[in-house]
Amino acid sequence: MKKTYHIGVIPGDGTGPEVVAEGLKVLSSVADEAGFKCDLIRYDFGGERYLKTGETLPVSAVDELGKMDAILLGAIGHPEVKPGILEKGILLNLRFSLDLYVNLRPVKLYPGVDTPIKNKLPRDIDFDVVRENTEGFYVGAGGFLKKGTRDEVAIQESINTRHGVERCLRFAFERCRKRNRRNQLTLCGKTNVLTYAFDLWERTFHEVGGEYPDIQRDYAHVDAICMWMIKNPERFDVVVTDNMFGDIITDLGAMIQGGMGIAAGGNINPKGTAMFEPIGGSAPKYTGKNVINPLAAIMAVQMMLSYLGEDLAAVSVEKAVEKVIRNHMKSMDAGKMGIGTREVGDLVAKYVREESFC
Ligand code: IPM
Ligand code: MN
Repeated sequence: MKKTYHIGVIPGDGTGPEVVAEGLKVLSSVADEAGFKCDLIRYDFGGERYLKTGETLPVSAVDELGKMDAILLGAIGHPEVKPGILEKGILLNLRFSLDLYVNLRPVKLYPGVDTPIKNKLPRDIDFDVVRENTEGFYVGAGGFLKKGTRDEVAIQESINTRHGVERCLRFAFERCRKRNRRNQLTLCGKTNVLTYAFDLWERTFHEVGGEYPDIQRDYAHVDAICMWMIKNPERFDVVVTDNMFGDIITDLGAMIQGGMGIAAGGNINPKGTAMFEPIGGSAPKYTGKNVINPLAAIMAVQMMLSYLGEDLAAVSVEKAVEKVIRNHMKSMDAGKMGIGTREVGDLVAKYVREESFC
């Protein structure tokens, strides 16, 4: 009997459904070739459903999604819904409820993709960011005092636990070992100012690092990291950091790898489930026009395959994506690709079928 994976699919808002459709097209062709099956369970969570029912994500769905082998998410965000409601109600809710404590965001420039950095080649831009995904400023610790008055106080605290920091660091060390490239893990912090939070991070980094003598430990402040990501991105192999800094530097990372059209990420619990997503938003102005780049969603599927242990399938999708970029696409940007959303998906699926699996 063929192995069957249970995949939760949340297409979401805006261009989410269009790009997810292409990701699933590729998933289906690679599953045929590699000899496994995917049982897709679809959910209509997002802005439309919220506007109709007032519901973001029912608890029962969280339980169901927690039992899936993996989840594929399109995009969350609707122009008629106040910012924060869907992000917190769906995306952050899933990250927290399913304890998806790592956000893994590869920053990789593929041949033929334009980077805004002059004179940098694919070999110079190829690193992973491991972002802590369930703590820091994102926990919502804090509140207001005397809200709306001239004496108002707003407090927002960053929560960092030894347990949370340690498990994230361990994932990063393991990831670095698995990549086996430069074997260097960079901790991105701000130890000169955030002397409590990053003191904990730094101490834990060196303590856990003792168990990984093959991995060279490196430290840089987040502001310097931003500088070097532009000036010498070849310096990085794996970068590990907290939730907030990780959010910021991975948008910078997405830009140097060619933009939101290609950047994907995985929200991972190594012992539980994981949710993969294109990291761009719902792009309402491009919705329904067949102009959005589906490669980020396809690369999210590629990451999902690798997480599921379908390594040959993951490599095949990556190769197919490289071919499509090289042979058919003018740009990674919506509306400038030279071909349509569906055509990109068709081509990746076609090249996947042409790959040999031996
Ligand atoms: C991301 C997004 C989210 C985040 C938002 C939508 C809550 O920017 O996945 O990086 O801040 O984590
Ligand atoms: Mn972000």
